[in-house]
Amino acid sequence: MQNSSRTEVGDGGACTDTSIGEQYLDPSLDPKFSRLRELLCSSDGWEKSWEEGTIPWDLGKPTPVVVHLVQKQSLPKGRVLVPGCGTGYDVVALAGPDRYAVGLDMSGTAIEKAKELWASSPNSECFSFLNKDFFNWNPAEQFDLMFDYTFFCALEQALRSAWAMKVGEILKPEGELITLIWVITDQKEGPPFKNDVSDYEEVLFPLGFKQIYIEDNELAVNTRKGREKLVRWKRSRNQSNQLSKC
Ligand SMILES: C[S@@+](CC[C@H](N)C(=O)[O-])C[C@H]1O[C@@H](n2cnc3c(N)ncnc32)[C@H](O)[C@@H]1O
Repeated sequence: MQNSSRTEVGDGGACTDTSIGEQYLDPSLDPKFSRLRELLCSSDGWEKSWEEGTIPWDLGKPTPVVVHLVQKQSLPKGRVLVPGCGTGYDVVALAGPDRYAVGLDMSGTAIEKAKELWASSPNSECFSFLNKDFFNWNPAEQFDLMFDYTFFCALEQALRSAWAMKVGEILKPEGELITLIWVITDQKEGPPFKNDVSDYEEVLFPLGFKQIYIEDNELAVNTRKGREKLVRWKRSRNQSNQLSKC
């Protein structure tokens, strides 16, 4: 799906001959991320990035740890949401007879691409793609599981509390949130914006979410190795979406 090419980069960059999304350790050295940041100065920046194929985050395959979790059968069954799903690899990987997956993206081009790519997938009855803005979307039915990978870190920091509130609304009371966190501490700009486990805790703890699992992601792709954390969260029973008053 993506071009393979070999690119030389300066100090601090990693050069491999794998897919575009794996070439650079530091996104700020990656011309594709620079271009993405330029595009995102306009309100339809995500759409433009998809239209011109500036999608440097895209691994061109399902996220390896997602495949692993599915194979281990360690994920909740029921309905799963992947917000900011892009090409939808993880949506299709999560979908199966026991788990109906919904991929959501605000870019119409991304959703068209995903629909076309996966139309004849053998499990096509078990997933769907929706062209919606996560923040303005009110699903008719809540979800048992939500998987976030490079969506939170793609959002302006000012949107993080709204992200957490929406997660709280969308998940069933016993639902689970899985965040695969690409830890970024050294970027002045974004996306990906600076984000660490503490940034998620800051917005999720006040809503009653608890960490039930945290581990370094040993299955991260080359340039993200040692920089990813898999964190699983659950909300306490009966916790409302209101921020605590004290
Ligand atoms: C960095 S990409 C991640 C894509 C995918 N999760 C992956 O890892 O390949 C972020 C995606 O979020 C989408 N997006 C950004 N803001 C959104 C919003 N408010 N609602 C839905 N999708 C959004 C963009 O169009 C883009 O496809």
